[in-house]
Amino acid sequence: MSLQRTFAVIKPDAVAAGNTGNILAEIEAAGFSIAAMKKMHLTKSQAEGFYYVHKERPFFGDLVNFMTEGPIVALILEKENAIAEWRKLMGATNPEQAEEGTLRKKYGANIERNATHGSDAEETAAFETRYFFNAMETV
Ligand code: PPS
Repeated sequence: MSLQRTFAVIKPDAVAAGNTGNILAEIEAAGFSIAAMKKMHLTKSQAEGFYYVHKERPFFGDLVNFMTEGPIVALILEKENAIAEWRKLMGATNPEQAEEGTLRKKYGANIERNATHGSDAEETAAFETRYFFNAMETV
């Protein structure tokens, strides 16, 4: 398989806990190359736009509040099979169900405060990448 890119976020809980460096080190140790990266504090409307596919779900308000409570680090990661590989490194959405050694198991607390995000398919990776980065911000 050829190189693929995915969109990833280090969420506010992990940034605030001082785990950005640990997570970036694990990303590189797992063989991803970082094609783009920026730290930012999302506004409410930016977070709502990012998660618009979940807007009818009961947790939407809580998710938006969490994602705007402090800075995040947005990333574009490159590797063979990057979308699936990044989701494997993150572990299950709910840290309580995530395998030992995964990022969400190590750095997440619960299904809301789960340390990292990753695109789940090529179409979402394309949308999310364009939502956060323009061509001049990407290697
Ligand atoms: S997934 O991975 O997209 O299939 O997961 P899903 O269960 O559909 O959840 C989508 C995102 O919503 C977050 N989430 C929640 N936030 C707050 N409260 C509750 N109860 C809750 N349940 C799910 C979950 O962390 C996912 O965030 P992302 O950023 O997509 O990982």
